[in-house]
Amino acid sequence: EDSTPDARPVVLLTRRLPDAVEARASRDYAAILNPADEALDGGAIAKRAAGAEAVLCCAGDRLDAAAIAALPSSVKVLATFSVGTDHIDLDAARARGLTVTNTPDVLTDATADIALLLILGAARRASEGERMIRADAWTGWTPTQLMGTHLGGKRLGIIGMGRIGQAVARRARAFGMTIHYSNRKRLAPELEEGATYHADPEAMLAVCDFLSLHFPATAETRHWLNAERIEKLPPGAILINTARGSVVDDAAVIEALRRGRLAAAGLDVFENEPKLNPGYRDLPNSFLLPHLGSATVETRNAMGFRALDNIDAVLAGREAPDRVV
Ligand code: DGY
Repeated sequence: EDSTPDARPVVLLTRRLPDAVEARASRDYAAILNPADEALDGGAIAKRAAGAEAVLCCAGDRLDAAAIAALPSSVKVLATFSVGTDHIDLDAARARGLTVTNTPDVLTDATADIALLLILGAARRASEGERMIRADAWTGWTPTQLMGTHLGGKRLGIIGMGRIGQAVARRARAFGMTIHYSNRKRLAPELEEGATYHADPEAMLAVCDFLSLHFPATAETRHWLNAERIEKLPPGAILINTARGSVVDDAAVIEALRRGRLAAAGLDVFENEPKLNPGYRDLPNSFLLPHLGSATVETRNAMGFRALDNIDAVLAGREAPDRVV
């Protein structure tokens, strides 16, 4: 029996991760796993991180200033298993000298696929149809049953034309949609592929038969899509959100869906997940998914490996490839 103490760096994985990711973490480090996959608050993460040099956290972990302050001083890097970093107080991390890394690129296609699923599902009333069948309420095909909206020839407005926004545009073009976009910076012509640029996102709303949001959640973007901006959309527009729930004002969206001002909404993200505004559940024209944007085996493995690549770099004294802070 080998009684040599494990001299490898300690790495905390806050949640259960795909097997291949946990196997690599346990091969290379003294990994602290979470086999029961318990949701941990900041205090519990700090406690489990005793002796750890790295914390591999997830989008559902709230790492606010207090949680960051509570982390043991041994922690050098917070590698989040997400592209979004809105769950981490980056200023607090910076002030403590922590490195923060994310997982860009590897989830672009999976998230864009989910945006298209939501566009199609919301436009074609897929959720209503599915619920009808499950409730045993389908009485047969009729010419006017559950008529939805055609995608071809419709205008899709994309706010936030980064990696995911561009991937959504490519897919939507294949369905015959015309692309409008707004972004802090106009794209180079070869990336624009005929999309129409609007410097002011607000001014673009009037042409959005479909509006898809792809910008980060920050204090400035909180509730960006509010009642006033919804009124600028064409009547019967369809809203798609795969970014973060906090960028829309739920009360305003629910009210607009109720009145038919918005024909439908396809939502993968919600403010205060998993306790979403219950108003969404009561609406026939809401198509709701539980934050599945990056949820493919391939993508989740890639996200885990990318987070570990970042931990490897920091613990070896190299620059992290996906350093955010
Ligand atoms: C992300 O990567 O930000 C997704 O929301 C999943 O965590």
